[in-house]
Order: sequence, then C-alpha cells, then structure tokens
Amino acid sequence: MRIEAERLTYIYGPGLPWEKRALDDLSLRIEEGEFVGLVGETGSGKSTLVQLLNGILRPTSGRVLLDGVDLTDRRKPVWKARLQVGLVFQFPESQLFAETVAEDIAFGPRNLGLDRQEVSKRVEESLLKVGLEPALFRQRSPFTLSGGEKRLVAIAGILAMCPRVLIVDEVTAGLDPRGKRDILTRIKLLHRNERTTVIMVSHDMDEIASLVERVVVLKGGRICRQGQTTEVFSDEESLAGCGIRLPTIPQILSSLGRAGWRLPVSIFDVQEAARLIAQECHRGAV
Ligand SMILES: Nc1ncnc2c1ncn2[C@@H]1O[C@H](COP(=O)(O)OP(=O)(O)O)[C@@H](O)[C@H]1O
Ligand SMILES: [Mg+2]
Repeated sequence: MRIEAERLTYIYGPGLPWEKRALDDLSLRIEEGEFVGLVGETGSGKSTLVQLLNGILRPTSGRVLLDGVDLTDRRKPVWKARLQVGLVFQFPESQLFAETVAEDIAFGPRNLGLDRQEVSKRVEESLLKVGLEPALFRQRSPFTLSGGEKRLVAIAGILAMCPRVLIVDEVTAGLDPRGKRDILTRIKLLHRNERTTVIMVSHDMDEIASLVERVVVLKGGRICRQGQTTEVFSDEESLAGCGIRLPTIPQILSSLGRAGWRLPVSIFDVQEAARLIAQECHRGAV
C-alpha cells in the first residue's frame, strides 16, 4: 500500500494558550513494501505523524492518501482504507484487557464481523507470525506473560486485522535485550515474508540502522533529512543539526576518522567495522 502525506499540518489545542503546532506542512511518500525508519528528537512530531497516517487523528490541514484514497475525505467512508494501516502504540501492552491471549487477539477481527472460524484462524496465524506457539499461549492470561511476550501479543492483535502497513511506535522501549531482539526479528520477517510496508518509529539509531532501508528525520514537525540509511547515517554534522546522533558503530568510526584513520562511516555491522579497522592497522596508517 502506498502512503502519501500531502502538506500535513497538525495543531494541538488550536486557539488555546497551550496551542502546539506538532506538524508543519509536512509531505512524505512511502511506497508499497518499503521499510522506513522515522526518527527525531522527543517532541519532533513522530507520534503525531503516525496517528495521522492511520486516521486516528485528522490533520488541521493537508491530506493523507492510502493507495490514492483520501483518508481526510468526509464525504466517503474511509474505514476500509484505515483498517489497512495497523498502528502499534508505545507501550501497547497497557491495552491488553481480555482474560486470555486468544480473546485479546480475537477482539479486532471479531469487530470486523468475521465468523468464528475465520477469527480463530486469524488468532492462530497472528500468534505464529509473532513467534508465539499457539498451543502454549492461546489460553494464558496476558497478565502472566513477560514484558516482551505481552508486547508480542499486542502486535499479534494488530496483525490479526491483516494490515498492509504496520506502524510501530517505540516498539522496543523498556524491554530487555532479548525482548528487543525477538520483536525486531519478527518485524523484519513480516516485512520480508509478507511484503508488509513497515514504518518504525524509534529513538534508538542502532535499531534503525540495523533494519530499515530508508530513514526520515523529523525536527520541529518538519522533515529535516531523509534518504537511504547508509547515506543519512554517514553525515554526522547534518544529523546533529536535526538533533540526532549517529548509531554507535558509525560514531566510533567517525571519531577514528577525526584522529586520522581512513575509514568509511556508514558501517552498521560490528564485524565489518572490526575488519576495516584491522585492515587500517595493518596498513600502518596509524
Ligand atoms: N495530546 C497532546 N496535546 C498537546 N500537545 C501535544 C499532545 N501530544 C503531543 N503534543 C505536542 O506535540 C509535539 C509533537 O509531539 P509528538 O508527536 O508526541 O512527538 P514525538 O513522538 O516525536 O516525541 C510536542 O511538542 C508535544 O508536546
Ligand atoms: Mg512519540
């Protein structure tokens, strides 16, 4: 599904003393099957943007088009298009409510009016997609799960709606390293195997660098930079201007560069970085 944001402006509390222009005339296009990282300092407008993209918020001005369907058109029913964009909020596990994992995941599909058989099929499939064995998890209470598992169940609940676009907002925040890794692996597989368009909001540049093909950097409700991941993460100065630091490995390579080492900056793989550093040592450059 192609997503187009056209000149989006969003103002919280218009006319009130605390009025805030969260997005300012922002345009963005995301093609079917892309994996895009959305980054930017706190308050730059990331969460507002993704809520506009799935129609939870309506823009103050501008439009959102999903495969050409205008989400902001008040004259047409647009819920079908909206449902194709699944948004996993920050701390989605706080929205788990049912007595069992299966009931929780079934909530969305059931509301679509699907019959029992289809609903239970979607529950099974979604559990498998997030890597939770249905037989082990179906009847568990969500409240007995680990933090990482809860979040996977929340994601399964969104996947059960069969969205064509998956947006995750700070999806690994607060999880331990293993929980993080599990979730990122699942998202990567969804993108690869199902060709789901994925938009990942994160403040963790290492996470972004290891996964996405294209990065969009927001600052003050506008796009500050965008481009291929290797390109965006090779320019420390312009990133700093957007209030963002390089991922860890490029940061190290960049400091070595300042000390006279001749190394590329936009390497995200630790082994590759180690190999290049060793090569430079052998060459006696330092
Ligand atoms: N519900 C709200 N009411 C008022 N202002 C808000 C609300 N949500 C966000 N904002 C403000 O809008 C701006 C953008 O916020 P947000 O989209 O949450 O940014 P991010 O996700 O990048 O941290 C910030 O200045 C924030 O304080
Ligand atoms: Mg946010």
